[in-house]
Amino acid sequence: MAGNLWSDEEVEFIKKLREEHPDYTNNQLSDLMKCKGYNRSSESIRHFFRGNIKKSKVIFEQNSREKFENGFDPEQYLQELCKIQDEKFNVFRKHDNIFQKISKININTDKPIAISFISDVHLGNPFCDVARLKKTLDAIHNEENMYIALGGDTIDNFIIQKLISQTDKTDIAVYKQWMLFKYILEEYQDSFLYVGLGNHEEFTKKMALISAQDIFVDKNKFIYTGSNGTYVFVTVGNEEYRISINHKLKYNSVLNRHHAHKRKYDLASIGDLDIITMEHLHEGGLETFWRHGKKRLALSCGTFKLFDEFGESLGYDHANNIIPTVILYPDSHRMVALEYYEDAIIYLKGLEHSVEK
Ligand SMILES: [Fe+2]
Repeated sequence: MAGNLWSDEEVEFIKKLREEHPDYTNNQLSDLMKCKGYNRSSESIRHFFRGNIKKSKVIFEQNSREKFENGFDPEQYLQELCKIQDEKFNVFRKHDNIFQKISKININTDKPIAISFISDVHLGNPFCDVARLKKTLDAIHNEENMYIALGGDTIDNFIIQKLISQTDKTDIAVYKQWMLFKYILEEYQDSFLYVGLGNHEEFTKKMALISAQDIFVDKNKFIYTGSNGTYVFVTVGNEEYRISINHKLKYNSVLNRHHAHKRKYDLASIGDLDIITMEHLHEGGLETFWRHGKKRLALSCGTFKLFDEFGESLGYDHANNIIPTVILYPDSHRMVALEYYEDAIIYLKGLEHSVEK
């Protein structure tokens, strides 16, 4: 019987039954049909309804196709989408600094300068070497031709739920960490070449949907590189040096520490980069490499957090306290990279002394 065509009476009856008893099983419906003299098994009823679903699907597809064919103009639709997108991007470009990928700085000088690349200070962490931080900031601030490129993770800011237990380990409350950060920006304002952002500052954005650092860093006073990969082109005297800045980079290799930097150089749409920096890994270092016939520098910013329980539990050793510092010449394209800012001070003083002689 399952394959037999259904009479109009049977169809009308089964539909009525289904309507009146939507929660009945096909077996129950079959019994009711048998009572009325229609010998339809539960399987036959199942086939009947499934067939009807298929029929509805065909009708729906036909309707949709007709709608597309008659009332939808893909070309016009694409044009409208492009227009909306263009307007949306213009709003972003106007109001959001993440699209300002390149910042340009002019340093009017006929003397070499030095830039120290500092990041991952982690103020608030009990193992942050605050004394070395203070000494470093003061020393660089006192040098006329030295600058600080400040990367991200200046503060610990452990406010996300899974890390909140970390705040137990420090006496510096999170709001005090922000206050210290603000103080450093104000106190050493003239020394900063730029100010960046790390994942620890971004914790606030994750929790509060607002970036506290976006508010703290006055964009009229600082070049603020934000959270995305950015570039700072600094012109020293007559020479332009192109710096690439990322808190994190992909293509990291534990065996080849500056592999990611080189990949960044090779893949960046902005070419001819002189210095490629990366932060976050707490492993300071520098390497010279050559591309397109010119010397390039791969810099890994270090940290002021000299002990890391979590890192050590994963097998990492103590962090080093390298602060990569680069001397840039104003009259020829020349870069000298040193591992410690203290050596850069000696270098600059030596140059000064040799000129006086
Ligand atoms: Fe980080």
